[in-house]
Amino acid sequence: MLGRVNHIALAVPNLAEAIETYTSTLGASVSEPELLPEHGVRVVFVTLENTKVELLEPLGETSPIAAFLARNPGGGMHHICYEVDDIISARDRLVAAGCRVLGDGEPKFGAHGKPVLFLHPKDFFGTLIELEQV
Ligand code: CO
Repeated sequence: MLGRVNHIALAVPNLAEAIETYTSTLGASVSEPELLPEHGVRVVFVTLENTKVELLEPLGETSPIAAFLARNPGGGMHHICYEVDDIISARDRLVAAGCRVLGDGEPKFGAHGKPVLFLHPKDFFGTLIELEQV
């Protein structure tokens, strides 16, 4: 069911500082910031040869990553995104196996304009998983 790792996401307290670190210190190529109000984040992507790193900063009072940053004020790994061919059949299979899908269980459109879902970290060894249909 799982394809490639699409990206690894890091929550950061200050996106401008994170962009500067990835650009200047690590010499990486970083995209322009995008606002995703539906997901409560401001985001950039660091493009690597084999995958991407997503840097997330909270957007708005109800950002889902605000609580994560309250627990991890310096930032930290927030989720890993795996690619799937068919997000509805992946979801149905996971729900049938007793896994919890976050939100209303319906895919939303992520930063790449592709449908995404998030799976409860308690069902996956403490790691929040994003599935993205490619
Ligand atoms: Co993501």
